[in-house]
Amino acid sequence: MSRSRATTPVVQVRSHVSVPPGKVFPVLWGEISSSLLQRGWMIGNEPGGKLRSAEKRTPKWGSGDVKRWDPPHEIEIVWKQDATGAGSPPRLVVRCRAERSGTTILIEHSGGSGLRREPREEQELGWLASEVVAPLLLAIAPARLIEWADDRWGRRPSGPTSSAFYKEPIYHLPGFHAILERLALRKDDVFLDVGCGGGSLLKKALATGCTAAGIDHSADMLKVASGQNARALAAGHLQLRYGDAAALPFPDGRFTCAAMSGVLPWLPDPGSAFREVFRTLRPGGRFVVWTSSPKMYGTPAAGPKRKGGVRLYEDDVVTRFARKAGFSDVRIDHPDLRPIAKAVGVPTPSRFLFGPEYGGFLWARRV
Ligand SMILES: C[S@@+](CC[C@H](N)C(=O)[O-])C[C@H]1O[C@@H](n2cnc3c(N)ncnc32)[C@H](O)[C@@H]1O
Repeated sequence: MSRSRATTPVVQVRSHVSVPPGKVFPVLWGEISSSLLQRGWMIGNEPGGKLRSAEKRTPKWGSGDVKRWDPPHEIEIVWKQDATGAGSPPRLVVRCRAERSGTTILIEHSGGSGLRREPREEQELGWLASEVVAPLLLAIAPARLIEWADDRWGRRPSGPTSSAFYKEPIYHLPGFHAILERLALRKDDVFLDVGCGGGSLLKKALATGCTAAGIDHSADMLKVASGQNARALAAGHLQLRYGDAAALPFPDGRFTCAAMSGVLPWLPDPGSAFREVFRTLRPGGRFVVWTSSPKMYGTPAAGPKRKGGVRLYEDDVVTRFARKAGFSDVRIDHPDLRPIAKAVGVPTPSRFLFGPEYGGFLWARRV
């Protein structure tokens, strides 16, 4: 990263990957737009496309334009000048340059210093240190990298590989089977899938004729979920919401049943999520949670036990979360899902993970 001594501040980032620009660009652009969305921003992918806050009522930081859109080589995004009107508008250029060894990615910020209140050089250095260098230094901490990878894969899945996986997550299909068997959905059921991921369980649930809602805090997952449930969405049989399990964006008593599959290990505070499910269930509502036992630590499914990683609970802890949230008839059973795992095509070396000692299903009711 370097910074010129020109009148306008410039930051340059250079990176290299060993695949050609045609492969780099769509992935890079997809990741940029979904990261912006995660932060509440939307960007168009054409010349004249807008960079704007997704929050319509109180948009912050103004807006920008896609000035150049020349995939897979170059894009340029320019912010509209702010009220100070000083200097040239801030811009960011992303270039993918073909090399024999792959692609060099160059990201360059220029223009846009409206900074005034302090001696300019001091202020520019302060900005560089606090907004660019310090965040980068923290982003490369080994534990943060692992946390980022956990987020990308499980806690808040994003990126093309996760999107492809969660569309029909083969390792979750045995759990979906057990959940649907337990819920025995009917046409008059209103089903909630908390942490719905790519919407595969929702799709299977909707096939029973019920109506449903899914909530997730991953924009990429919601995109997959809406893609594969487009008809149900259009017909008004399905609602998808961006949100947090601990603050469900639904009114009290909205649902007749709810499920969580693969979500519990990622929740910082399972108690609040269980309370929210309780609140949004009608009296008589049923709740099923696919849980993984701490025995799963050290397997390819959970990795080693480590701070910040997945949290796996013994049965008594999970039942306590449910009882404290207000649920009755709380129990956990441990079916052997290995035959189903085999039937849905889980590869042989992974089938042992579906044995009764590795997982279970919490079953609870709001009376
Ligand atoms: C391992 S994936 C499981 C996805 C899906 N339920 C399945 O079984 O295929 C965990 C999902 O829970 C979502 N999730 C995790 N924590 C969440 C939270 N606090 N609020 C909402 N969604 C959450 C993630 O974004 C992700 O889609």
